[in-house]
Amino acid sequence: MNVPFLNLAAQFESLKAELLPAVERTLASGHYVLGPNVAALEQEIAARVGAGFGIGVNSGSDALTLTLRALDIGPGDEVITTPFTYIAPAESISQMGARIVFADIHPRTFNLDPADVSRKITARTRAILPVHLFGQAAQLDDFLALGQARGIEVVEDCAQAIGADYRGRPVGAFGAAGCFSFYPTKNLGADGDGGMIVTSDEALARKLRMLRVHGIERRYYHDLHGYNSRLDELQAAILRVKLRRLDAWNVRRAEIAARYTAALEGLPVETPTTCELNRHVFHVYAILTEQRDELLQFMAQRGVPSIVYYPLPLHLQKVFADLGYRQGDLPVAESVSERILPLPIYPELTDEQVDYVAGVIRQFPFGDHE
Ligand SMILES: Cc1ncc(COP(=O)(O)O)c(C=O)c1O
Repeated sequence: MNVPFLNLAAQFESLKAELLPAVERTLASGHYVLGPNVAALEQEIAARVGAGFGIGVNSGSDALTLTLRALDIGPGDEVITTPFTYIAPAESISQMGARIVFADIHPRTFNLDPADVSRKITARTRAILPVHLFGQAAQLDDFLALGQARGIEVVEDCAQAIGADYRGRPVGAFGAAGCFSFYPTKNLGADGDGGMIVTSDEALARKLRMLRVHGIERRYYHDLHGYNSRLDELQAAILRVKLRRLDAWNVRRAEIAARYTAALEGLPVETPTTCELNRHVFHVYAILTEQRDELLQFMAQRGVPSIVYYPLPLHLQKVFADLGYRQGDLPVAESVSERILPLPIYPELTDEQVDYVAGVIRQFPFGDHE
């Protein structure tokens, strides 16, 4: 059996009958950028999250960049974030000319560790940027408390966690703003790039709307240094169709996760931990094993390829060498990077495929590969 790591073509097949008419209607409308579908999607996502406003932008990366810009973060400021994630949040900080300060992660959830964040706060800290990694909320209460005590903003990176809850409330509306990605592989993915910021701060929303279109509120009158980061109508129309499936898809992801966890019981691997306060939406299901590279190869040879997220923590990436971090500075992130192994997870995956993947792992001769 072959189990693809991702299968977006299967998602298209399951939605074809709804997607094609939506695409056709949009093409026929003659309205292609920032039109009625974008406005409707902004309302739908903001309402789901429980925020006052949604601002559709070009990507999750832009959602972060525009948010930090709107918060006036710049040279001399520090922003604390996680080294164990996709590069976008860290990059958005350096793009502002601000200093990235990495704090270590929790060894079981892989999310930013509040105790280490607290140690890294200085008089220059302007924001904390936790990522709700792999579909599970970071410890928001702690970050909000740290922030409130010192006037530090909390910006949530929700790129991997649309539909996830923290204390029974959806992620995205806890801090100053929540940033979402609609990259095709995300739990709610467009058929191209896309992103959204949600906030309940009206002044911030207004500024973000200006920033996404070259700083204008009135056409050809530019009040701010802005960007071109508009969401297009085709992506918004497609996302509105897929949004109707999001809850069912997230339920299926959780079922798959539970099936893997049951099937892997007793093996010398760590399966994901879900915190009590969280509803996890399993954007990624990753195990930890001391024999990651051997198991990865063993699985690939049996038709189960994987992609390692993330093989090198951000503080050790060449691009951030000037920050001066060294191996050993963030030991938990470094250790997790060496042991993590994501398994295929997407709603279209069948129980037979899940059982096959788990069966392959069970066949692996753990301990024989020292
Ligand atoms: C945690 C995280 N933040 C931000 C992004 C950036 O989103 P985009 O690819 O839409 O720019 C991604 C993924 O792509 C991500 O995983």
